[in-house]
Amino acid sequence: MSILVTGGAGYIGSHTVILLIEAGYDIVIFDNFCNASKEAIKRVEKIVGHKIATFEGDVRNREDLTKVFKSHNIDAVIHFAGLKAVGESVENPLKYYDNNVNGTAVLCEVMAEYGCKSIVFSSSATVYGDPHTTPIVESFPLFATNPYGRTKLFVEEMLRDLYVSDNDWKIVLLRYFNPVGAHDLGIMGEDPNGIPNNLMPFIAQTAVGKRESLSIFGGDYDTPDGTGIRDYIHVMDLADGHVKALEIIKNLSEVMTINLGTGNGYSVLDMVKAFEKASGKKVPYKIVPRRAGDIAKCFADPSYAKEVLGWEAKRSIDEMCQDTWRWQSRNPDGYKNKGK
Ligand code: NAD
Ligand code: WQD
Repeated sequence: MSILVTGGAGYIGSHTVILLIEAGYDIVIFDNFCNASKEAIKRVEKIVGHKIATFEGDVRNREDLTKVFKSHNIDAVIHFAGLKAVGESVENPLKYYDNNVNGTAVLCEVMAEYGCKSIVFSSSATVYGDPHTTPIVESFPLFATNPYGRTKLFVEEMLRDLYVSDNDWKIVLLRYFNPVGAHDLGIMGEDPNGIPNNLMPFIAQTAVGKRESLSIFGGDYDTPDGTGIRDYIHVMDLADGHVKALEIIKNLSEVMTINLGTGNGYSVLDMVKAFEKASGKKVPYKIVPRRAGDIAKCFADPSYAKEVLGWEAKRSIDEMCQDTWRWQSRNPDGYKNKGK
């Protein structure tokens, strides 16, 4: 079975490609490298032991996609390609609507043209906005607090409309919680541009000495230690969720919407302590005012994923930190040649 992985050079996509190949799928990667390095693909190839068909192109570009579908018999698409920086989406919303919403529409049109109607989409826990309670189940009300989140909501709705228009579509919407960690060989991982927005890469860069100190955004939340609580999930567990989604996709008779989280909530201070333990390094921090748009608590009820996919996250917070540290300490400058 041939799977097209859009955004396959990115953080989650590159890790997922490894497990897909190990599960026996033929993989085609499609990426415009706007937030990825070709080196990431070389590292994946090193791990799996062979070359991977790779197309440089943009999901908004029909011709780029057509080249792939003309030359490969694609059975299903895992659609990771998208922009994900919340702050940038506030400053430049049209860029996000164009890339994430229009990009998905063009992709689906070309897929339909070639008779490929199975898609797994990277949604996000951000679609729950500020949940009224935790843990979060899939039926909670949806709300976006920023343009990035709205692109995820819109694409979810667009794909549901697509299914209503044509029941041949097989659609899985995976709502990721907070992906962290890296492949355990230490040659692949998250490689953010510039100053990291997310907690884990910031902690890792602080531990390795690239940043002086972590700013903890808010120490006065209604949580046991006052810092924000999230559901951090190991990227390899997340990757495995995609393999499981492909196993059920052919038999779907409705659009499936599934949380991928561990069900455990950890605070920012929990993460700092766990990282110090895993790395043996001190992570200096200071508590600063809350970051606009942040919420106190967000963690999943992952029981639906277990029920329908037979999937559950297996890796502990200690493994998430150890694997991040192995990658960060051995590759302090990431893949180095980002965007090339
Ligand atoms: P990433 O930026 O590392 O990967 C996205 C990849 O898509 C990159 O390789 C980028 O070059 C590519 N891309 C972007 N726009 C493209 C386009 N128009 N055409 C072709 N390629 C394009 O991000 P990631 O963390 O791996 O996230 C993957 C997906 O999961 C995204 O859709 C993201 O919104 C979603 N998601 C991520 C998180 C997270 O915290 N990392 C959480 C929830 C959902
Ligand atoms: C986690 C916790 C921060 C950085 C974001 C997106 C979401 C999803 C995942 C894509 C919070 C605190 C962070 C720092 C800190 N992405 N923090 N200092 O905000 O839960 O989710 O990434 O879909 O849409 O919004 O993740 O890693 O930024 O923050 O104190 O330097 O760490 O306040 O409590 P978040 P995060």
